[in-house]
Amino acid sequence: MTDLETIVSDAKAAFGATTTPADLENAKALFLGKSGRITELMKGMAQLSVDEKKSRGAAINLSKQAIEAALSDRRQALADAELQKQLKAEALDVSLPGRQRAQGGLHPVSLTLERIEAIFGSMGFDVAQGPEIETDWFNFTALNTPEDHPARSMHDTFYVEGGTQAAPNLLRTHTSPMQIRYAVQHVKKHRALIDAGKSNEGAFTGSMPEIRVIAPGRTYRVDSDATHSPMFHQCEGLWIGENVSFKDLKFVFTDFCRTFFESDDLVLRFRPSFFPFTEPSAEIDIQFSSGPLAGKWLEVAGSGQVHPNVVRNMGLDPEKYIGFAFGMGPDRLTMLRYGVNDLRLFFDGDIRFLSQFQN
Ligand code: PHE
Repeated sequence: MTDLETIVSDAKAAFGATTTPADLENAKALFLGKSGRITELMKGMAQLSVDEKKSRGAAINLSKQAIEAALSDRRQALADAELQKQLKAEALDVSLPGRQRAQGGLHPVSLTLERIEAIFGSMGFDVAQGPEIETDWFNFTALNTPEDHPARSMHDTFYVEGGTQAAPNLLRTHTSPMQIRYAVQHVKKHRALIDAGKSNEGAFTGSMPEIRVIAPGRTYRVDSDATHSPMFHQCEGLWIGENVSFKDLKFVFTDFCRTFFESDDLVLRFRPSFFPFTEPSAEIDIQFSSGPLAGKWLEVAGSGQVHPNVVRNMGLDPEKYIGFAFGMGPDRLTMLRYGVNDLRLFFDGDIRFLSQFQN
């Protein structure tokens, strides 16, 4: 091997042994750098004759080109290897299954409330929302609840700041205050329309359209066990007109229960009871004819004909206007519908429990 052939083969071997671009540049310096082996040979040509210079120069140049070619091949190879490494590290396996976004859903009690609203909506009932912090007036006094009624005691009611000593504010103990709030608004609105000569009485023969509303929402009592929670839900119902009777209550509530539970042979019982704001009053019980609860009477609502004092507090003449009200427990309806026996499960927020109700 000539000295030039040796240098070229040494250069190829040195380049081939490098694994990084920096190593390669260092190896390059050994051959093509200022004191590299090729450069040294060039310097050595000074002593040669003109003819020798020509042939030796050409030979050195060929070797230099061969080394430069080897260098650029190695550069390319290292760059390719680097790219391959990077591609491998960042590889996407497009055959992997996609990540799924967890699907949220409504709380079982919300599903019940939606169902209640849909069913009563189909019977022409409006849906109203009211405040959870109430005044003594709307929660008790306007509802004909006497000063010494046990429901007003500290044991049963969460009193909060505001109001007066004699009439403190409180977390509403039922949705019944909405009877008064809604009726008062309704009366005000239609009085104004009548006064402005714009009343549209429709089928109602009186001076004002009927009041037909449900008011679902949260309610609060000092109570806590498997079937009572300090916060629970109620849904009020109110229908006031000139000719609304207990018979309508029976019809509406029976129709509601049968639709809600999807059971035509479900039976209802109106058991005499007492509420200060209704007279007569009844507790409504239902009985299933089949399923795990078949044959048992289950209480689902309080109800009654709206007391004349309450009608008066609505701003209406009890001699002319009459109707019924009911208050049911959506939590209890949810328990019955899905066969849940502990109310607290609804409020623990355990996703394993709650996710079972998605439909
Ligand atoms: N507010 C009553 C309760 O909380 C239920 C009820 C509502 C009774 C309307 C009669 C009429 O128990």
